[in-house]
Amino acid sequence: MAIQIIKANDYEELSALACKKIADIITQNPSAVLGLATGSTPVGLYKKLIESYQKENLSFKEVRTVNLDEYIGLPKNHPNSYHTFMKNIFFSQIDILESNTHIPDGTATDLEEEGLSYERLIQALGGIDLQILGIGHNGHIGFNEPGTSFHEQTHLVELTDSTRKANARFFPSLNDVPKQAITMGIGTILKSKEILLLASGSSKADAVKQLLSGEVSIDFPASALKNHPSVALVADKEALSLM
Ligand code: PGA
Repeated sequence: MAIQIIKANDYEELSALACKKIADIITQNPSAVLGLATGSTPVGLYKKLIESYQKENLSFKEVRTVNLDEYIGLPKNHPNSYHTFMKNIFFSQIDILESNTHIPDGTATDLEEEGLSYERLIQALGGIDLQILGIGHNGHIGFNEPGTSFHEQTHLVELTDSTRKANARFFPSLNDVPKQAITMGIGTILKSKEILLLASGSSKADAVKQLLSGEVSIDFPASALKNHPSVALVADKEALSLM
């Protein structure tokens, strides 16, 4: 299926468009299951959702969330964990119940079981209504690096050097960036009813071009989205500049 392209002038508009999409879903289904992402790209979206909560009475009281991934070895309250990221950037500023927010546990002693239990959880919630994704420079989605089978479920991954370098900006030094993560697999992501992929800025232009004009291949994980019936790419002018 072709990926629907939604063009935004800039990051502000991209964030507003993604916010409107989520607000519409919550309005229709107040207990919707949202798949959430970390990284820089969705931060503007979370800001807009917080504004909608504050100014437009958008309530998250019944919303359930499942995040894509977490670093291995960082306790939940570690400043660089995705648990902390989500809490600070979003969850602590809206009326969502903490018990309705879910993120894989990167400190689980049995990570295989953690992956299986995360899959059971998503199933028990009724599946993901809308999954938000960013895209890595190498085409990764979640922490599914090039070469990952499109059938993988939530699993342990070794992070590539390029991903560790890209994420080092959040850590005191590159050495502090964990080498492993637990992530929803591409198979997990593809089970979502709808997917919204966000791409902003010229640094993502190559990845967007590869996604839209390249082949479907495990060498470029985001290309798996072409096998899904309902994917929209919200991208700003800079991210679309090579198209
Ligand atoms: P970014 O990360 O939003 O920080 O660019 C996206 C990703 O690596 O998936």
